[in-house]
Amino acid sequence: MELKELGKSSVMVPAMGVGTMLWTPRGSISEQTIRETYSACIDNGLNFFDTAEIYGNGASERVLGACIKKDGRPVLVATKFAPPSPMNPLTQKRTTVSKNSPQALLEALDGSLRRLGVDHIDLYQIHMPPSKSSIADYMDAMAEAVKAGKVRAVGVCNFNEAQIREAHSALAKQGIPLATAMVGYNLLRRWPETNGTFAACRELGVSVIPYAPLAEGVLTGKYRAKGKRVPLGYKVALYFGHLNITKDRQDSQSLMHRMFSKPLELDGKRLEPLFQTMGAIAAAHGKTLAQVAINWLLTNDEVRVIPIPGMKSVGQVENNIGALDWTMTTEERARFSQKEKTL
Ligand SMILES: NC(=O)c1ccc[n+]([C@@H]2O[C@H](COP(=O)([O-])OP(=O)(O)OC[C@H]3O[C@@H](n4cnc5c(N)ncnc54)[C@H](OP(=O)(O)O)[C@@H]3O)[C@@H](O)[C@H]2O)c1
Repeated sequence: MELKELGKSSVMVPAMGVGTMLWTPRGSISEQTIRETYSACIDNGLNFFDTAEIYGNGASERVLGACIKKDGRPVLVATKFAPPSPMNPLTQKRTTVSKNSPQALLEALDGSLRRLGVDHIDLYQIHMPPSKSSIADYMDAMAEAVKAGKVRAVGVCNFNEAQIREAHSALAKQGIPLATAMVGYNLLRRWPETNGTFAACRELGVSVIPYAPLAEGVLTGKYRAKGKRVPLGYKVALYFGHLNITKDRQDSQSLMHRMFSKPLELDGKRLEPLFQTMGAIAAAHGKTLAQVAINWLLTNDEVRVIPIPGMKSVGQVENNIGALDWTMTTEERARFSQKEKTL
């Protein structure tokens, strides 16, 4: 398995990680299936897992911790601190310090370490830009966690270009690199290429971790066949991604326009040309659409991209691992050009 460095942090991870957001009751996946999926990941060299304290209100971290303990083989764990919000019940329960203070991050970190049953987090990320205190104050708390040996590398999620730069500069004052920026990025959601995210990450040596690399399964083509419908939960997620409440997108469409139009991911007719392009590349290499979608991320030469597709079964692990043993050509990459970008 090829290893990649998380930014300039010296933390090395496999070229592809595993998203565990749906390893919760909401994901309709049994604990037995999670254990089998986990083992299949490690058997295939995928030992970098991404979770968050808010996934299932701690359930994802707990089940991942149970798998780590039972399986016993070494892993790398990324998790996330959720800044205080009434929307996240877990963040309202913090007690030791004012729950609105950046120091709450250190309390949250201890909670994650406990649920995961590990003594350090390989990549600790702030889940979204904070609204109550400054980014610099949160990065100071992150630096404290690194200095205490509880965190190896620091990342941010859903930050725009200015926020990425601010986090980088605050950490740099403490001699710590900002390792990663996690953003929604896939063949159907390409704003990071043009909204300054990629430019900042390239300049600052920050790795990009794209979430929803398969557009919640849409890019596997499984909803292309008539009869199989996108689950309601995914539809809601895609809809919010489309509205883009975190403002990572620059385009001329007004919020009103977006509210009353269908997300691209749900528009079968407009997707078909993309599936045709993906299908031709898949056929040329004996690959699946999912493997093409992930390989397109892996072969980005502008920034270091480390995808973390969500995987819910052994079959999905075996399929997604097939994204790693080949490289689409430059000419093939060029086929995913402006046409799809502006769909
Ligand atoms: N920081 C953030 O704000 C943020 C936000 C969202 C996600 N994330 C992270 O990013 C990870 C990945 O994103 P995601 O899980 O939302 O979306 P995704 O990776 O685009 O899609 C994953 C889903 O696609 C389906 N799938 C995966 N591989 C497949 C295959 N080979 N064939 C057919 N179906 C397949 C599975 O769902 P079904 O079996 O149900 O179809 C799976 O749960 C998350 O798990 C989480 O760790 C972070």
